[in-house]
Amino acid sequence: MCAVQVAAPSVSLFQWPRGRHAFTPTRLRPTSLILVTGGAGFIGANFVLDWLAASQEPVVNLDKLTYAGNLANLDAVKGDARHVFVRGDIGDPACVEKLLGEYRPRAVINFAAESHVDRSIHGPGEFVQTNLVGTFRLLEAVRGHWSALPEPERASFRFLHVSTDEVYGSLGADDPAFSETTAYAPNSPYSASKAGSDHMVRAWYHTYGLPTLTTNCSNNYGPFQFPEKLIPLMILNAMEGKPLPVYGDGSNVRDWLYVGDHCSAIREVLARGRPGEIYNIGGNSERRNLDVVKTLCATLDEALPRSTHRPHDRLVTFVKDRPGHDRRYAIDASKIAKELGWQPSVRFEEGLRRTVQWYLEHPDWVRGIQSGEYRNWIETNYAGRAIRPSATPL
Ligand code: NAD
Ligand code: TYD
Repeated sequence: MCAVQVAAPSVSLFQWPRGRHAFTPTRLRPTSLILVTGGAGFIGANFVLDWLAASQEPVVNLDKLTYAGNLANLDAVKGDARHVFVRGDIGDPACVEKLLGEYRPRAVINFAAESHVDRSIHGPGEFVQTNLVGTFRLLEAVRGHWSALPEPERASFRFLHVSTDEVYGSLGADDPAFSETTAYAPNSPYSASKAGSDHMVRAWYHTYGLPTLTTNCSNNYGPFQFPEKLIPLMILNAMEGKPLPVYGDGSNVRDWLYVGDHCSAIREVLARGRPGEIYNIGGNSERRNLDVVKTLCATLDEALPRSTHRPHDRLVTFVKDRPGHDRRYAIDASKIAKELGWQPSVRFEEGLRRTVQWYLEHPDWVRGIQSGEYRNWIETNYAGRAIRPSATPL
């Protein structure tokens, strides 16, 4: 399947092909555009919205619309002819080749992935399929396209691969943060599949000269995050007075980054990153999971002064730990700071406040998600995981 859904182009600068399955030649071709994959997911959608808010350059958005892809994330650009949405798979060469030939993007930014560690434990197959095989097929399609480009487009073309800090494995409490030269040591099927994709991107640069860039980023949070991940899950459960399931003793540490800062880092790397290089991106915001949940509860207490669930931290419930649960992630982001001048701009507590506010103000988005497969997923994930009451004082 590779179906185009196009915004009404009547008042636009650019005339896009109309209708589903319509790969008719564009009549007016913009001088440049980018192709984003996975742009209906959490980070991809934030990236597309930020990009179109900051630039006139159009985006072609290729997304398979798995459970994590949601067109409602892109409502703000509905009717904006600078955005073309195509439902398709990065692992479908015919679809990708057609898009590359049709739109001739100056860059491809690959967000598409299966992204949730817990799901990868229950079912690693999809992770291998999309993150490894899919990235391989995407790289091959892009290589074919790029090799045939005339100069100077060939030299300026970029393939930016969006990856994670989880490929570096787990840190002890006193270990230095992950740098770009830290050896890979993935521990979950998710991180192993992302590590494999990073290795392929590296090899396509060294072997074929494809001008690649790789970013390895820490945990993101913010608007549009699917509520299987820690922060949105806790916000929605707390709002409804449900248990807040903290794995193990809640002392695992993550380095949190507001999604808008991740998007600005990717824009910088795309604009000025050196081909073949890796850039680590992090928030300088290491927090224990339990502290994240407690801060979030306090934020909700303030935002919902009349809630019968206050104080929300009463809902914290320690549950059986995730198998192979990485202890600590921390990013040394000095390379991107030094080379590209990028720094995170949103402090964790401020980002969390904005995020809580966003979920409170978007009940329709939440309802849409909750009526879907999310319900089944919760049952699968927590089946056999006895919920025990909070063991430590909060
Ligand atoms: P997400 O799960 O919210 O979204 C993934 C998107 O990819 C969805 O829209 C989905 O429909 C799409 N997709 C999945 N398989 C596809 C396929 N075969 N072809 C086309 N589209 C497909 O993920 P996210 O949190 O937005 O993460 C985006 C990227 O950033 C991923 O590569 C992830 O590894 C990376 N990353 C995420 C985080 C984080 O904290 N969420 C941190 C660092 C890096
Ligand atoms: P998650 O959002 O799944 O991201 P990742 O595993 O990629 O870091 O989880 C963040 C942390 O929160 C991780 O240490 C696992 C923990 N966690 C819980 O304690 N309870 C939960 O229900 C979830 C989803 C995660």
